[in-house]
Amino acid sequence: MTAVARPRRPVISLHDVWKTYGMGEARVHALRDVSVRIDRGDYVAVMGPSGSGKTTFMNIVSCMDAPTRGRYILEGYDVTDLEERDLAEIRNHLIGLVFQSFNLLPRLSALENVELPLVYAGVARKLRRSMALDALEAVGLSSRVRHRPTELSGGQQQRVAIARAIVGNPPLVLADEPTGNLATAQADEVLDIFSSLNADGRTVVVITHEPAVGERAKRIVRFSDGRIVDDRRVAARVGPPPVPRPRSEVASLPARLGGARA
Ligand SMILES: Nc1ncnc2c1ncn2[C@@H]1O[C@H](COP(=O)(O)OP(=O)(O)OP(=O)(O)O)[C@@H](O)[C@H]1O
Ligand SMILES: [Mg+2]
Repeated sequence: MTAVARPRRPVISLHDVWKTYGMGEARVHALRDVSVRIDRGDYVAVMGPSGSGKTTFMNIVSCMDAPTRGRYILEGYDVTDLEERDLAEIRNHLIGLVFQSFNLLPRLSALENVELPLVYAGVARKLRRSMALDALEAVGLSSRVRHRPTELSGGQQQRVAIARAIVGNPPLVLADEPTGNLATAQADEVLDIFSSLNADGRTVVVITHEPAVGERAKRIVRFSDGRIVDDRRVAARVGPPPVPRPRSEVASLPARLGGARA
């Protein structure tokens, strides 16, 4: 018999989630009765044809959008019915988001782009700078911190965007087609970064069309027509060390949401 597994709290837990757009004839069920659980330290690729509900799933998981029906528990918080103000707090503390188009501000340097979420979080200037430099170092861009986005390659821009996503040290990183605009070599660099974020203990969920991206994950969840039609583990979800707590100077979640996370 194998060792008894310790119970784990899921990072993501969706229960019977539906997402319906429009009304009457124009009604579209983008998600149909989706239930899924993702535990800490997993690395999940979400795949499936265009229109199958992947981005809708990501929008709900990232608290950018609410389910029409069903419940969503994120890191133990029932976020289904939270107000926008609380959702924004949860997003800021728990989730790093990466998109296909890098969404960097063109007038700001790489460093300033990465600092921006910390500006919104009210982190003091000096600490902000050192955290942003650390994040840029983690993505291999220490030599490009003063460059503006137009002075960087696509792969470098995406790495800046990843640095911005992880600068607050979120336990969960979500990416929607992060390599969709990149050439193969640049995509590989980005995928190496996701692997190392996962090895550091972060939970990673990546939406992709590309089999090569899916192959880097530990689990592949396939959507078709708004449903999960396949969910297979391709590598062990090792139990890496938990992500270190954010520096104490960074504000923790407000008391009404349960304060700092253990
Ligand atoms: N805001 C919206 N209003 C109406 N319908 C929408 C909206 N967003 C998505 N849909 C519909 O929901 C379904 C799922 O869309 P979604 O964007 O989640 O697909 P996807 O799997 O991400 O596709 P792709 O691979 O092309 O990005 C589609 O039929 C889409 O047209
Ligand atoms: Mg999509």
